[in-house]
Formats: sequence, structure tokens, C-alpha cells
Amino acid sequence: MNIPFNKPYMTGKELGYISQAHARGHLSGDGAFTKQCNAWLEHRIGSRKALLTHSCTAALEMAAILADLQPGDEVIMPSFTFVSTANAFVLRGGVPVFVDIHPDTLNIDETKIDAAVTVRTRAIVVVHYAGVGCAMDAIMETARKHKLLVIEDAAQGIMSTYKGHPLGAIGQLATVSFHETKNIISGEGGALLVNAEQFTERAEIIREKGTNRSQFFRGQVDKYTWVDIGSSYLPGEIIGAFLWAQMEEAEAITKRRLQMWETYHQSLAHMEKMGKIRRPIVPAECRHNAHMYYILLPDLRRRTEFIARLKENDIGAVFHYVPLHDSPMGIKYCRTAGELPVTREMSDRLVRLPLWLGLEEHLADTIDKITDTIGRL
Ligand SMILES: Cc1ncc(COP(=O)(O)O)c(C=O)c1O
Repeated sequence: MNIPFNKPYMTGKELGYISQAHARGHLSGDGAFTKQCNAWLEHRIGSRKALLTHSCTAALEMAAILADLQPGDEVIMPSFTFVSTANAFVLRGGVPVFVDIHPDTLNIDETKIDAAVTVRTRAIVVVHYAGVGCAMDAIMETARKHKLLVIEDAAQGIMSTYKGHPLGAIGQLATVSFHETKNIISGEGGALLVNAEQFTERAEIIREKGTNRSQFFRGQVDKYTWVDIGSSYLPGEIIGAFLWAQMEEAEAITKRRLQMWETYHQSLAHMEKMGKIRRPIVPAECRHNAHMYYILLPDLRRRTEFIARLKENDIGAVFHYVPLHDSPMGIKYCRTAGELPVTREMSDRLVRLPLWLGLEEHLADTIDKITDTIGRL
């Protein structure tokens, strides 16, 4: 395909750092590059502790263990999200309870959370869709009122802010992704961000197979042993080395993505005026990271046709998410609170357009073809 939907960007320094890690001979987890990445996240986001993991999925599973769910405990979240947001809690015996999303940001509708709370509710998991922050003030207030934990699934949210606070800094726990489709990448990769003091020690243990090995390496205990449940959630040092090359350029990467996002946004304004599409809406209190540019077509039929016609023009465009409440696992292990009409509608109408570093030189031509295709629908 001429213009793929995604093309991972490499800064050029990745292999140099990987060969440094190789020369140092420390290839397992928590080597020098991994520690540099953790420190970068702590500094950038302001978390008490950041721990690289091998995926955002792994970080969500760690968050679910930290939430200490008992079988049947409920976790409120949107159905319009990636599988891992819910699966992590189902693995602990929890019950995801889905509420609808806002038609503007496609983020969880904070006004619907209160009514979804029951005596079994333990946590709210928010998803900052497209790197645009959820209405965190209202969500934190609802959580305080009902004494619930807030976990931010900031898989798409690195370098974004809500009212000046980095996404991932607001809930007690948060997770990010460095999967190759994200802005800053390591192939597969992620991190757990711990913002509440009470979770810092246990998070380290869970990540190290339920052992207190990190304390042993710091000289805090004289031998290490099995002290809790956990798993192998830490990535090898090669991943840390790769990721460090990306973190060093995080500002420049975000800037270039934002420029392309703006070009799409301005170029498609007239299509919105003509009523052919709807463009993304970013609330004034949110600074986003241009993780994705999507458009909403009028209905499923036109979306299907749009994607097929772009494919004929060698342009990759994709849709998501299939709402979790309609999936076989969603039906078996989860429940909904109220109707989810916005989730259903948006998942039928949404298309993500190509957005990757290097697309700049083809962007005008790509947008021309996209505009032409929309016009013919
Ligand atoms: C909202 C959300 N949560 C979690 C994940 C899982 O991330 P990873 O692939 O790093 O496990 C993704 C991945 O796309 C995502 O979009």
C-alpha cells in the first residue's frame, strides 16, 4: 500500500543504544536504559513511581492486582475501548460495568458514572481516547464521593494534558503504551504509573514475579523471596534502550504529529460544513498529542464504502472499536449500566486516517484523495 495506515518512526539512535546495552552485558530487566526511561516518565508526568512493562496490557493487569478486587467486585469503564482495559479486571474476577461515552470526545460520559455505582464498585477506569483527556475533575469528585480508585488508561495519552496536568498523573494509577502504533514506541512496551504512595512498594513486587527482588538489589533486605502474587511484567533492557531513543525526541515527535493533525483538521473543515463528516472535538482544557486523526461518517454503509474506496487508492484507513459489551467475552463477564447508544453509533461511524512521521511529504495528496472520496459517498 502506498500510504499505509501506520508506519513506525525510528529516530536513528535506537540501534546505537541497543549496542550500548549489548556492550554493557546487562540484558534482563531494570538495566541503565530502563531506569532512565522510568526516571523520564516520573519527571515528565510527575508520578511517584514509573515502571516500564512489556505492554500497556501488562500495566493494566498490574493495576488490577493493586486494586485488590474480590470476585464480583465491579469496575466502571467505557465499552468503547481496547480489550485489555476490561480483560485485565476480568482476570482478577472483577466485573467490568460499561457506561456510555460523550459524542464530542468519545471519552467516558462522567455524568453517567454516579448512577452506575453499586455497593460492589471498587474502581473507575477512564480511557483518554485519541490522547484527549477525560473530564477528570468530575470523575475524581465522583470517585472521592464513593471512595473509588481511579485508574487512567492513558495508552494513547503520552505528552497530553488536562487543565495543565499530564494525562497519567491524575488517578491513583495509570498506564501508558509504547506499542508501535503509538506516538513513542518500543515495538511492544508500556508502563505503570503509580501516583498514590500506598501502591509504590507493592507495584515493584508484582512486577518482579511477586518477589521483593528490587528491595534486595537496593540492600533493603538481605535475601529476596516470594512475598505476594505477581508475574514477569518487566521488559528486557533492549526494549529500554530502544525506547530511550524515542523519549529523547518526544517533543519533536509530538510537534510533527500535531502539525499533520492540524493540516487534516483545517483541510477537512469544509467537508464538515457541508455536513459530510464530523471532525474530532478537543475541549479547551485539553492539550492533546495528535495520537490519531479520525473522522465520523454519517453511517456504517458510508464508512464501509469510504474505507474500500481509499483502499483502491492505496490509502490505509481503519475503524475501531467493536464495543466490548457486544463481544462474546463482554456478554459473558461484563454488564452495562443503562443504554449505550453513543458507543454503538460512534463505533459504526468512526474511521482513523493515516498519521505517521514521514507522511508529511504525501499529506497534501492524501488529503486530496480523502476529500474527493468523501465527496463521492
Ligand atoms: C485504550 C487502550 N488500552 C490498552 C491498550 C493496550 O496496549 P498494549 O498494546 O501496549 O498492550 C491499547 C492499545 O492499543 C489501547 O488503545
